[in-house]
Parts: sequence; C-alpha cells; structure tokens
Amino acid sequence: MATALITGATAGIGRAFADLLARQGFDLVLVARNEARLKLVAKELHDKHSVAVEVFRADLSRYDECAWVEQRLADTARPIEVLINNAGFAVRQRFAKGDLLAEQTMFDVLVRAVMRLSHAAAQGMVARGSGVIINVSSVAGWRHTSTYAASKAYVTSFSIALGRELRNRGVKVTALCPGFTHTEFHQRAGMDMKRLPEFMWLDADALVAQGWRDAQRNKRISVPGRQYQALRYLLKFWY
Ligand SMILES: NC(=O)c1ccc[n+]([C@@H]2O[C@H](COP(=O)([O-])OP(=O)(O)OC[C@H]3O[C@@H](n4cnc5c(N)ncnc54)[C@H](OP(=O)(O)O)[C@@H]3O)[C@@H](O)[C@H]2O)c1
Repeated sequence: MATALITGATAGIGRAFADLLARQGFDLVLVARNEARLKLVAKELHDKHSVAVEVFRADLSRYDECAWVEQRLADTARPIEVLINNAGFAVRQRFAKGDLLAEQTMFDVLVRAVMRLSHAAAQGMVARGSGVIINVSSVAGWRHTSTYAASKAYVTSFSIALGRELRNRGVKVTALCPGFTHTEFHQRAGMDMKRLPEFMWLDADALVAQGWRDAQRNKRISVPGRQYQALRYLLKFWY
C-alpha cells in the first residue's frame, strides 16, 4: 500500500488528515515533537484501520531533526506517495519589541521545513512519475499582518509555483488555505477566540476532506468554506 507522511499529525488538521488517509488504506508516517502522543495516535489508527503506522519524533524548527525527516522522505526503498506539510503554530507578539528567537522558530517550521520537505519528497515523486503534496497554508496569508501571515503567503505562493513546475510530471501540489478551524492552535498561541462568530469556524474533518478532494483534482489552491471563498473574492478588491 502507498504511504503518506504527515507533519503535525497528533492534533487538529494533521490528525484529521491521518484519520482520512488511514480510512483510505494509506500506511502512515506521523511526525510531531511529543512522542507519547504520537504513539497513542499510531496505535488508535492501526487498531481502527489495520494500516502500518510509523512514528517519527522530530522538532521541525531544528535543522538536524528536520534533516531526519528529509532523509525518510528521500528513502527510495520506502517511497512516500503523499506528503502533508501541516505542522505549525503562531507566535502572538509585536515584531519590533518581540522575541526574535520565537519569530525565527516559527519561520523555520512554517517556511524552512515546508520548503526542505517538499524538495526531499518531490525528487522521488518526479522520478516515479506520481505523488501528492499538500501544504497547509492559511487565509492569513492573504493579509499583511505578521511573520505568521507572511510565512503563509510564502507557502501559498511556493505551492502554486511548485504545482506549475510539476504539473506534467505526475505530481499534484495544492496549497490548502483554511480559515479559523477548531483545533488546539488558538489555545496554544494564547488567543482568546470567544468573540469569533460561530459561522466563521470550520470543522477540521470537513476541511481536510475538501482539501483532499481538491488535491486529487490537482487544484493549486483549496479554500474550504463558502465564507472564506467569499472573503478571498472580496480581498481581491481590498489590496
Ligand atoms: N486552526 C486554525 O484556525 C488554522 C487556520 C489556518 C491554518 N492553520 C494551519 O494549520 C496547521 C495545523 O494547525 P492546527 O490548527 O491543526 O494546530 P494544532 O491543533 O495546534 O496542531 C499542531 C500540530 O503541529 C505539531 N507541531 C507544532 N510545532 C511543531 C514542531 N516544531 N515540529 C513538529 N511538529 C510540530 C503539533 O504536535 P507537537 O506539539 O507534539 O509537536 C501538532 O501535532 C498549521 O500549519 C496552522 O498554521 C490553522
């Protein structure tokens, strides 16, 4: 069976991708920092779907640990057919007065790791003439607000460019741009979301299903939810 590698697979959107792909019969390689949680998720998915699940503890902000994942992706003896670059978090602070290391760490996970893992995966996919890369970006990339937003703008632009480069090589690349989604993301970033109206929230399972469908159709950008599709249209006139 084909194998999918998912970063940030223990919670939220990454976990929803792990469920969806396991249901479809993919063997999985799950990447995150918390090893105990990785093992728990791996056992649940294996028991429920009878797929092989490998856990890979790595902090993608660390160059050495990111390189372990690159090596796994480049291993021709154990090919990866699907790469989901999903791991991420936000740092909430003003840039000039803020902690530079925190900005750098976020940048390394959201941008550097996505770029390096895409490169490691794409080489084998091109050689085999097949593969899918989904880079989890954000609607935040449409606005000019922070290192987080700028990083997501990179992810979207980079994914479109890579998709164009590989379109005749059998490799599909999609930037998945979620809006606000119920996950651990906002709590981890210390954001108070109580005032966000209910209609702005997305469900992780539904958005992942949409993202996967759009990737199968080789769409460059996937924007789940009518509210965010409308926002995308309106922002074209704003900037
Ligand atoms: N939730 C939203 O509203 C929303 C909207 C738009 C885009 N997104 C994007 O969606 C992606 C997933 O976010 P989520 O909402 O699902 O967040 P989440 O529930 O907080 O899950 C984040 C996942 O990433 C892993 N992770 C975090 N830092 C990591 C690191 N340095 N190295 C390896 N793994 C790391 C976490 O596991 P460990 O802590 O164990 O490492 C966890 O599995 C992110 O790229 C985020 O920017 C989210």
